[in-house]
Amino acid sequence: MAHIFAVGGGKGGTGKSFIAANLGVMLARQGKKVVLVDLDLGAPNLHTMMGLTNLKTGLSNFLNKSVKNLSLTSAPTKTPNLYIISSLRCSLEVGNLFYAQKQKIIRAIWQLPTDYVVLDLGAGTTYNTLDFFLASHQGLSVFTPEPTSIQNTVQFIKAVYLRKLKHILKQHAFATAVKEVGYESDDGVVRSPLDIVDSVMRSDPARAKLLQKELGKLRFKLILNQYRKHMDVTLGNKIEKVCNRHFYSQFQFLGNIAYNERVYESIIARKVFVAKYPYTPTSTDLKNVANKMTGRNVQAPTLKETNAKV
Ligand SMILES: Nc1ncnc2c1ncn2[C@@H]1O[C@H](COP(=O)(O)OP(=O)(O)O)[C@@H](O)[C@H]1O
Ligand SMILES: [Mg+2]
Repeated sequence: MAHIFAVGGGKGGTGKSFIAANLGVMLARQGKKVVLVDLDLGAPNLHTMMGLTNLKTGLSNFLNKSVKNLSLTSAPTKTPNLYIISSLRCSLEVGNLFYAQKQKIIRAIWQLPTDYVVLDLGAGTTYNTLDFFLASHQGLSVFTPEPTSIQNTVQFIKAVYLRKLKHILKQHAFATAVKEVGYESDDGVVRSPLDIVDSVMRSDPARAKLLQKELGKLRFKLILNQYRKHMDVTLGNKIEKVCNRHFYSQFQFLGNIAYNERVYESIIARKVFVAKYPYTPTSTDLKNVANKMTGRNVQAPTLKETNAKV
C-alpha cells in the first residue's frame, strides 16, 4: 500500500495546492514514485500549479466508469516519477459526492501502485474533505501566519476530530453524547469535540479510553506557508506545542515555507516553482519539509539561497 499524505487545512488560499504540487516534485526527486491526486473537486487547479494543460484523463474517467482502475487515469508530469490524477473534467456536482462514491475513491487511492500519494484537498470542513483527510497516513495542515488562518486551522482539527468521533461512535451514540454535552451553538454545531470525549468518560470510561486511543492514532503535520523574514520564527513550534497539549493526537511542525513573489511568476509561466526557481529559500524550505515527511536529514539553506531576492 502506498503511503498517503493529505494536504488540507481550513482556509482557502493558504497554499495547499502550491505545496502539494511542489512537495510532489521533491518526493519524486527522492527517487520514489509519486501520484498527486486533485481532490478539490469543485475547484481543481493542481494541474495549473504543475504547468499542465490539456490533460486527457482524470478522476472523471473513474467516476463515469469508463475505466475500472484509478491508476489508468493518471497522467505523467514533466518530472520523472511524478504522475497526476486531475479532477479537471469532473462535473460540478461531483463536489457533493455520494458516500459510496467517496468510499470507492478512497479504496482506489489506497490501491494505487506507487510509493507515495499526495492528496490536494479543498478548503473548508465539508465531509468530503474531512473523509479524504482521514483516509491518509499523515494529514498536513497548511496555514499562514495570520490569526484568521491559525483560527481556521484549529477549527479544521476540531472538525477532523468530530468526524472521526462520529465514525467510531456511530450515529445514535454520537447523538446521545452530543445531547449530554448540551454544548451546541445556535446552528447546532458542537463547539469542542473534546467535550464529547469528556462526556463519554463520565458514563463509560472504558469507551472513552478507546476514543482517546483512536484519536491518538491520528498524525497531524503542520506547515506554515508564506513566512516572511520579520515574523516570529518560533510561531510554528509554539502552535505544535499547544496542539500537542490540547489534543490527543501527535502534532509535528514540519517547517516554515518562505513567501516568494516568484510563486506568482511560476504559475503564470506554467512551470512548477521548485523546477523554475530551485535556488531560493522557498525551494530549500520545500525540500526540507519533504525530507522531514520521509524522515531524511534536513539541510540548512546555502548562503547563495539565503541571499536570493524573496
Ligand atoms: N510561499 C508562497 N509565496 C508566495 N505566494 C504564495 C506562496 N504559497 C502560495 N502562494 C500564492 O497563494 C495563492 C493561493 O495558493 P493555492 O495553493 O492555490 O492555495 P489553496 O490551494 O490553499 O487555496 C497562489 O496563487 C500563490 O500565488
Ligand atoms: Mg487549492
